[in-house]
Amino acid sequence: MYKRISLKILLTFSLVFFSGASITHENMPHNIDESAGEKCVEPTDIMRAQHHIFLTQQSHDTVVKGIRTKKYSLNNCINCHIKPVADGTYPSVKSEEHFCSGCHIAAAAQVECFDCHASKPFKKVAKKIGSLEK
Ligand code: HEC
Ligand code: HEC
Ligand code: HEC
Repeated sequence: MYKRISLKILLTFSLVFFSGASITHENMPHNIDESAGEKCVEPTDIMRAQHHIFLTQQSHDTVVKGIRTKKYSLNNCINCHIKPVADGTYPSVKSEEHFCSGCHIAAAAQVECFDCHASKPFKKVAKKIGSLEK
């Protein structure tokens, strides 16, 4: 209990102190084509601070209440945020090039969702293979 609280205090402090490039990771490419007009599901500053709350809520709604929606679904995040790197493959969830992990590694946040959930888009792989065959 106390361990969890002190961990949260620590995280809050690290967010306050490192709220510059290391946690917003503005120095890392997001691989999102801004000209495509792709916007996040909420304004960026809200996402930065609250994305885990949306995901927990979504998980509860789906698994407990049986309400399935797309907006905050984990697949929706992954499909938009995870883009192929230079060699055409998707970055591993252990890699700093992975949009979510890059930030979690920098912030020392333990996120174990990808033990079960896909960390790479599935549909877009098929699309990519299709376009390679052309
Ligand atoms: C249709 C595309 C799209 C979807 C879907 C999407 N995002 Fe985003 N997201 C963006 C864009 C564009 C930005 C702002 C540019 C940037 O910082 O990459 C952003 C920003 C963010 C940020 C802040 C990044 C920073 O540097 O501070 C987080 C965190 C985030 N998104 C998480 C999520 C999560 C979690 C989901 C799923 C619930 C999600 N996004 C769904 C496109 C998307
Ligand atoms: C032990 C495996 C496991 C772990 C770890 C896990 N989940 Fe899930 N999650 C599931 C299963 C199984 C479902 C139900 C699958 C379905 O019906 O789509 C689910 C459903 C969800 C959903 C609703 C479906 C969607 O995407 O809209 C969300 C959101 C979600 N989990 C988020 C998370 C987050 C965030 C974490 C990490 C904090 C996490 N999960 C960790 C197994 C897991
Ligand atoms: C701008 C940096 C940043 C980005 C980008 C980011 N996260 Fe996070 N995330 C954090 C920080 C920092 C924490 C832990 C601190 C907190 O609770 O706010 C966290 C915590 C989480 C948690 C809660 C873990 C738990 O077990 O309580 C989940 C789930 C999560 N992130 C999912 C994602 C997903 C999925 C993506 C990619 C779509 C993502 N995050 C992208 C910074 C980020």
